[in-house]
Amino acid sequence: MLEKFKRHPLTLGPTPIEKLDRLGQHLGGKVEIYAKREDCNSGLAFGGNKLRKLEYIIPDAIASKADTLVSIGGVQSNHTRMVAAVAAKIGMKCLLVQESWVPHEDAVYDRVGNILLSRIMGAEVRLVEEGFDIGIRRSWKQAFDEVKARGGRPYAIPAGASVHKYGGLGYVGFAEEVRAQEKQLGLAFDYIVVCTVTGSTHAGMVVGFAKDRRQRKVVGIDASATPAQTKAQVLNIAQHTAQLVDLGAEIVEDDVVLLEEYAYPRYGIPSEETKEAIRLCARLEGIITDPVYEGKSMQGLIDLVQKGFFPEGSRILYAHLGGAPAINGYSYTFRNG
Ligand SMILES: Cc1ncc(COP(=O)(O)O)c(C=O)c1O
Repeated sequence: MLEKFKRHPLTLGPTPIEKLDRLGQHLGGKVEIYAKREDCNSGLAFGGNKLRKLEYIIPDAIASKADTLVSIGGVQSNHTRMVAAVAAKIGMKCLLVQESWVPHEDAVYDRVGNILLSRIMGAEVRLVEEGFDIGIRRSWKQAFDEVKARGGRPYAIPAGASVHKYGGLGYVGFAEEVRAQEKQLGLAFDYIVVCTVTGSTHAGMVVGFAKDRRQRKVVGIDASATPAQTKAQVLNIAQHTAQLVDLGAEIVEDDVVLLEEYAYPRYGIPSEETKEAIRLCARLEGIITDPVYEGKSMQGLIDLVQKGFFPEGSRILYAHLGGAPAINGYSYTFRNG
């Protein structure tokens, strides 16, 4: 589906699929749980889901003759860390707007984890007092204009690399990769569980899995706590991406399955249940999930299995999208483990 698009390789190749036997047994042994380790996809600054998206965006940035990547996210954004890494790797400058998306108080929140890594990689990091919003932001546009005013050549990458013309392509590729791995493994997955916030990861999967009519088996777990906006954004990106790849079928609202009940109390703040899910997955599988994204989708996975949402015998693929560096900003939350 992606042959006609330029791709700048940033990942190490297909990501491993790992069976989570101990978690599956702990949850009753009635379904099989697997994880696709997108968190282990690259040698670039701890990797994660943004790199698949950026592989299709960077050729456009290079072709535009830009010299500076300009992007935006929260203080502990994984996305901006990935943009900083890619800028370093391709020899561009990087300006990052880090908004106050999370009302979280930890003494070192703006000094550790993702933002620390971005600073080390040489990005210009700008802290801005604005609340959470997955839409296009004034502060990001201002940063873009500022680079121009300084005589630079900016290239704009929106939050989560989502609302970009090529933002959905990377996770179309994920679906194609899963199909090839299913053949090798001699099995098929009945459900894919994915964390959803800015939307292009989920949207790309919807388009990619629509090819074999599995798009409604992609179960999005909202972590934005603004699910109406997130769902609309997933649908928009999926519809645009479907046209771009000539899917030949229309994506409709019912194709976007987004479960809203795990994002509480708000974006970036883990509930007691999210913290328990993080501990359970870490203690049974040695896999680290974070309090902002993957901990919430892990909580959703665990709850859905326990509730019998997946029929007995189902094979469930949990997309682990990365994000572990942010956990350093929650040192007090996990001070006793
Ligand atoms: C670790 C992690 N998981 C999930 C997501 C959600 O992906 P998306 O923004 O494409 O919906 C993000 C980014 O927002 C992320 O960094």
